[in-house]
Amino acid sequence: CAKTGLDEDVIESLVRNFYDKVRMDPLLGPVFAERIDDWTPHLEKMIEFWSSVALLTGRYHGQPMQKHLPLPVDARHFDRWLELFRQTAFETCSRQGAAHVIERAERIAESLEMGIAANRGA
Ligand code: HEM
Repeated sequence: CAKTGLDEDVIESLVRNFYDKVRMDPLLGPVFAERIDDWTPHLEKMIEFWSSVALLTGRYHGQPMQKHLPLPVDARHFDRWLELFRQTAFETCSRQGAAHVIERAERIAESLEMGIAANRGA
């Protein structure tokens, strides 16, 4: 996209750089390590997801809410996730591109966080 500078290559770098940080993070790393043996398909799926979200390519088909409901995560995990995502976006994308993906990430994170909290209360 001319305005945001986002394209498939930038999205791929964003996803790879982000999960490099996530995997090393003391709070988030273990949540992934316990569930993901092979990172190649997970990264491929996340590239498709962000391509769909940021570039509207329709490459991702899945149900993120279903996958996150059983995870042992709360507000702290989401805050940390967003902190690392913002950092990575500013390092990897143009200023406009970063603003675009961060806005999407914040909305989706809020919806996942609320879904998990509601499911837990139910
Ligand atoms: C999948 C962890 C937040 C998007 C996963 C998986 C884990 C995970 C472990 C793999 C699940 C599985 O295959 O069974 C987390 C943690 C988060 C978090 C610890 C922070 C508390 C987010 C956010 C987004 C997101 C904010 C979107 C903005 C996705 C997507 C998948 C996924 C699209 C793939 C779902 C599918 O299999 O189709 N996440 N996640 N996650 N996550 Fe997250």
